[in-house]
Amino acid sequence: MTIEEEINELKRKRNAVILAHNYQRGEIQEIADFTGDSLELARKATQVEADVIVFCGVYFMAETAAILNPSKIVLIPNPDAGCPMADMITAAQLREFKAKKPGAKAVCYVNSTAEVKAECDMCVTSGNAEAVMKTFSPKDEIIFVPDQHLGGHIAGKLNRKYNLWPGYCPTHAHLTAAKIEEARRLHPGAIVMVHPECAKDVRDAADERLSTGGMCAFARNSSAKDFIVGTEVGILHRLRKENPGKNFYPVTDTLICPNMKKTTLASLRESLAEMRERVIVPEEIQVRAKRAIDAMLAIA
Ligand code: 13P
Ligand code: SF4
Repeated sequence: MTIEEEINELKRKRNAVILAHNYQRGEIQEIADFTGDSLELARKATQVEADVIVFCGVYFMAETAAILNPSKIVLIPNPDAGCPMADMITAAQLREFKAKKPGAKAVCYVNSTAEVKAECDMCVTSGNAEAVMKTFSPKDEIIFVPDQHLGGHIAGKLNRKYNLWPGYCPTHAHLTAAKIEEARRLHPGAIVMVHPECAKDVRDAADERLSTGGMCAFARNSSAKDFIVGTEVGILHRLRKENPGKNFYPVTDTLICPNMKKTTLASLRESLAEMRERVIVPEEIQVRAKRAIDAMLAIA
């Protein structure tokens, strides 16, 4: 039996679905029931009818699925697959930040811990941040954590000023405007797509600033043939598979999120075989964190 056959058999036995993020290894995306960005995966988690969700991604994503669907068993094959950006602010630090801005609305990027979400009025993902942030009045004071770049990007688009926490993604920090210009020289005429987690000069050097799901939709609907991709290289698997007549060039093939790559077919098989590692969110945190995520899902 191949490892894929073993996983599929275990999946049937456990009545499980496999959800995978767009940055996962190609073989994980291939065996998953659904692959998407953070927003698409959060929505999917609310619709799952199976008993078990095996989440192939980083910890906050599995935690979001557990918050949204607390009656399900949510497993993460590699519980040490964290997101360093999500760990750049703790709930205690956020409470201190909020105490300095009484009356401000607290907004968290979904790349945050359940404890941080529980302290927030609203959650956003890169796929809906603009639409969600538009629903606040320009008079509202906003605290935005933890990603300074996504927060700065949306504040710029909406011509507003947010109180930004100085968090960032260490993987996207490898991208520079000079690397974008070099990629343009190598692939003249190609459309440059970058993730809004990139720094401002990188976002300014690109043509499009999109979530990973946004990049898939943009590439599908565009009449262009050549694209330069400024995000984690795992997404190239899906872009190339869905658009066989088009060309996708990474700005640099070293843009790798090590945590996203921790999940392998072997760890996925072990996870289903041993029903581990279960993601547990204490009820008191789950209920409060769910409010912020539900508020987001109700908008966009
Ligand atoms: P997306 O929601 O755009 O997939 O982004 C998740 C992420 O962690 C990007 O680094
Ligand atoms: Fe976190 Fe960056 Fe990895 Fe996304 S790419 S999961 S933001 S470390």
